[in-house]
Amino acid sequence: MRVGFTYDLRDDYLKAGYNLEETAEFDSVNTIESIEGALVGLGHDVERIGNVRALAARLVEGRRWDLVFNIAEGMHGIGREAQVPALLDAYAIPYTFSDTLVMALTLHKGLTKHVVRAHGVPTADFAVVETPEDAERIDLPYPLFVKPVAEGTGRGIGGKSRVDGKAELMEGCREIIATYRQPAIVETFLPGREFTVGMVGEGASARSIGALEVGFLGTAESTIYGLVNKEECETRVTYTLVDDATSRAAEDVAIRAWQVLNCRDAGRIDLRCDGAGRPVFIEVNPLAGLNPLHSDLPILAAQAGIPYAKLIEMIVESAGRRVVRSRA
Ligand SMILES: Nc1ncnc2c1ncn2[C@@H]1O[C@H](COP(=O)(O)OP(=O)(O)OP(=O)(O)O)[C@@H](O)[C@H]1O
Ligand SMILES: [Mg+2]
Repeated sequence: MRVGFTYDLRDDYLKAGYNLEETAEFDSVNTIESIEGALVGLGHDVERIGNVRALAARLVEGRRWDLVFNIAEGMHGIGREAQVPALLDAYAIPYTFSDTLVMALTLHKGLTKHVVRAHGVPTADFAVVETPEDAERIDLPYPLFVKPVAEGTGRGIGGKSRVDGKAELMEGCREIIATYRQPAIVETFLPGREFTVGMVGEGASARSIGALEVGFLGTAESTIYGLVNKEECETRVTYTLVDDATSRAAEDVAIRAWQVLNCRDAGRIDLRCDGAGRPVFIEVNPLAGLNPLHSDLPILAAQAGIPYAKLIEMIVESAGRRVVRSRA
């Protein structure tokens, strides 16, 4: 197939003057080369496109592809992860991973939790805070957890995200709103085991490829899987593929959430156990990181016996069904 490849290269944004944290979600040259290498190895003819603006320019030039492998997270606006899918929809070009609706919804953790909770998926009680008055009105039991409502890669998240009283809560919300220019989401604190579940497929054929338990070493920034622990995962956290009653319950919750949200092809669902030891949904990552050595999904897949090239093949195969359908 002629496969276009859309992504946000971190170095491009650093060169343009954005800082390390602002670009934390974007991809390294190594990730781009690894995906491209796997696609070429599968026999595809790959064209590197780049970000949404580069895609727009190529589309206007008249370029077309059988499939676009899309990992672009976008830089601007709450719909940023939906922008490449939306452009490709406009030109009827199939692409990997979830559609515009899922990408726009799931970037907002509060709205996503409303949807999954309405379908009976367990998730921590929460409130979205846009103003100090919203924080003032919160009536949830401490400890609470405060994070940006629409970020990823642990941005704005670390040991300080747990708050034990009103003053800390107010300060945490104020800081998130000022720094990230968006609302904060406040949730009841989940003290238990942490899992990320790897998902492939869609709808009735969606399945888990395993549950990875995240453990925290003495060197960890805290027992929260936030920005510092993620960026320095090699020295601060451990990843163990687990298979026990609790991890299987986590996989069941993840599959249900994946299906409720209509996610496609591959991704990750993050969960943590509540005080009673029950795994509950934290968030979904429909564009999970794909660095072969550093990102959770490839790490999980490797431990589950799925080499990197096979993982990329599974993603293309899942998306490929839509190529056939769109030509029929
Ligand atoms: N309610 C909570 N209680 C306890 N810990 C939490 C809670 N919400 C999030 N965390 C911790 O913070 C981490 C990051 O949260 P979350 O997954 O929402 O952020 P993210 O930046 O979107 O992550 P990703 O890198 O997966 O995109 C979780 O993996 C967990 O360790
Ligand atoms: Mg997460």
